[in-house]
Amino acid sequence: MRKFIIDTDTGSDDAYAIMMALESESVEVLGLTTVSGNVPLEKATRNALMTAEICKKNTPVYRGASKPLYRPAFSAEDFHGNDGMGDMNLINPSGKSEEKHAVDYILETLKAYPENEIELVMLGPATTIALAILKDTDTMRRLRHIYSMGTAGFGPGNVTPVAEFNVYVDAESYDVLLNSGIPLTIIGCDLCFGDAVLKSPEIDRLLTMGEKQRFFGKCLQRQKTSNMEKGRGCIATLPDAVAMSVALWDDIVTGSTPVFCYCRTREEPDYGQVIIHRQDGGLYKDKAKNAEVITGINAALFKKRLMELLLK
Ligand code: BDR
Ligand code: CA
Repeated sequence: MRKFIIDTDTGSDDAYAIMMALESESVEVLGLTTVSGNVPLEKATRNALMTAEICKKNTPVYRGASKPLYRPAFSAEDFHGNDGMGDMNLINPSGKSEEKHAVDYILETLKAYPENEIELVMLGPATTIALAILKDTDTMRRLRHIYSMGTAGFGPGNVTPVAEFNVYVDAESYDVLLNSGIPLTIIGCDLCFGDAVLKSPEIDRLLTMGEKQRFFGKCLQRQKTSNMEKGRGCIATLPDAVAMSVALWDDIVTGSTPVFCYCRTREEPDYGQVIIHRQDGGLYKDKAKNAEVITGINAALFKKRLMELLLK
């Protein structure tokens, strides 16, 4: 059985991704660690607890970084709702987060398990993970792999023309991640559009079903409106769920490329841009590769498997 730790700034699409791993029969989720991002840390932690509870799991939740390394917090309540989960008065979680800090939990767990066993899936800004890398790089290198939902991939950014939210929130931390030497797969936000979106009738159908499906239908209500206001149609995008599908299933991936990624942290207009140097050309083509970037997914298969886990 594969062993995952999931780091999350739990908003609506994080909840989908967490559910997928919790419901998967080939993965054991050892713990959820949280980070400030979509919503402040306490709300992200509460949403992670709610998500585990709705999936009837006792997965422990550990609070991590409450702000980016150098910059003030930047959040996305306008997109995910004030509570990060569509402002639909979802359940009151009965569980509480653990006392231990997420960084200590991750490092202690990596030491307790054999090297190359644990995989980390990152669904939010990189702050908590950067703190762990800065505290004890050798122990973090015991990770088998990191999957990161981050960067604009090969498309435009979703916060600025060049920066994607998770990197924009804390680019200095993303730079630490890129320079960590830990095997890294990056799933950009370019992969979450087209056939990978949830359409309004699919979301509405969830609202007519059982408690779990209603929870997941409701948590998308704010982003459905927000996408409509932005002229993207009455849809919900699930970048974190797409990233989780890449972590869970090899056959989802239709293309990937080893690259050298460089994260811009200096100038405000391009803060958070990740420049992806592909090996097939350019001045930096011979530079050591620090990530594998996914270039395509089978969106129909992603949706099919997502629905199977959602309806379970
Ligand atoms: C990322 O930012 C957040 O809005 C989502 O949860 C996802 O992790 C997409 O850019
Ligand atoms: Ca997220």
